[in-house]
Amino acid sequence: ASSSPLAMEHFNYKALAALLSATLLLLLAPHLMAADPDPLQDFCVADLNGKPTVNGYPCQPSSSAGDEFLFSTRIASGGDTLANPNGSNVTELDVNEWPGLNTLGVSMNRVDFAPGGTNPPHVHPRATEVGIVTRGELLVGIVGSLDSGNRYYSKVVRAGETFVIPRGLVHFQFNVGKEEATMVVSFNSQNPGIIFVPLTLFGSSPPIPTPVLVKALRVDAEVVELLKSKFTGGY
Ligand SMILES: *[C@@H]1O[C@H](CO)[C@@H](O)[C@H](O)[C@H]1NC(C)=O
Ligand SMILES: *[C@@H]1O[C@H](CO)[C@@H](O)[C@H](O)[C@H]1NC(C)=O
Repeated sequence: ASSSPLAMEHFNYKALAALLSATLLLLLAPHLMAADPDPLQDFCVADLNGKPTVNGYPCQPSSSAGDEFLFSTRIASGGDTLANPNGSNVTELDVNEWPGLNTLGVSMNRVDFAPGGTNPPHVHPRATEVGIVTRGELLVGIVGSLDSGNRYYSKVVRAGETFVIPRGLVHFQFNVGKEEATMVVSFNSQNPGIIFVPLTLFGSSPPIPTPVLVKALRVDAEVVELLKSKFTGGY
C-alpha cells in the first residue's frame, strides 16, 4: 500500500515520539531508583570533622586518602550480646565508622544475637537492606504498608540464607535458635538511619504527650507511663 507522504510523516512522528519517551524513561529510571546520589569522583573520603551541610560529608584532600580508606576490619568480630536488654549488639559500619564510604551510596552492619535476643522493630528511612545470616537462625519479620493491608511477612532464615527489607518498612530479627546468631547486612545508602518503633513512641526527647498515646494506643495512662519508663535513656 503506497501511503501518502503526509500519512508516512505522521507515522514517523508518532514512532519517534514513542522512542524518545522510552529513551527518556530509561535514562531517568536509575536516578528514580537510586537511594543516594551518584558519586562524581572515584572516592571522597569523609572529613568527619566537616559539617555535613551538603548531602554527605565534605571530602578530605585526595592526597591524604590512602589504601586504608577502602578496607575495614570493623565487622570481623561482633559485640557483646548480653550487655543490653535487647540481647543483641549492632556493629554499625556506615559512613560515620568508615569514612571511605562517603558518596558511594552503600554501607553495612553486623548484628549478633544471644538466644532469644532481638533487633527490635525498626525502620531504615533512607535505604533498602539485603542481609545474610552467617550463623544460627533468625526469625525475620517485615510488616508491609497499608497498601499491603498491613501484611506481616516472615521466615526463619538460617546460616547462608538471605533476606531483603524494602526501604522504609518496619522489620525485626529474633534469634529463635539455641545458639548465638549473626547476620551481616548491607544498605543502598551510606547512612541508612534507624528508627526504633518502641523508642520512637516511648523514649523520644522530649516525650510524646501521654494523652496522645492513650488515644492512639487505646490503653490507660498508666500503661503508657509504664512503657515510657522502660525507654527513658534510649535502652
Ligand atoms: C556491644 O558490644 C561492645 C563490645 O563487646 C560493647 O562495648 C558495647 O557496650 C555493646 N553495646 C551495647 C549497646 O550493648
Ligand atoms: C534496644 O531496643 C530499643 C528499642 O526497643 C532501642 O531503642 C535500643 O536502642 C536498643 N538497644 C540496643 C543496644 O540495640
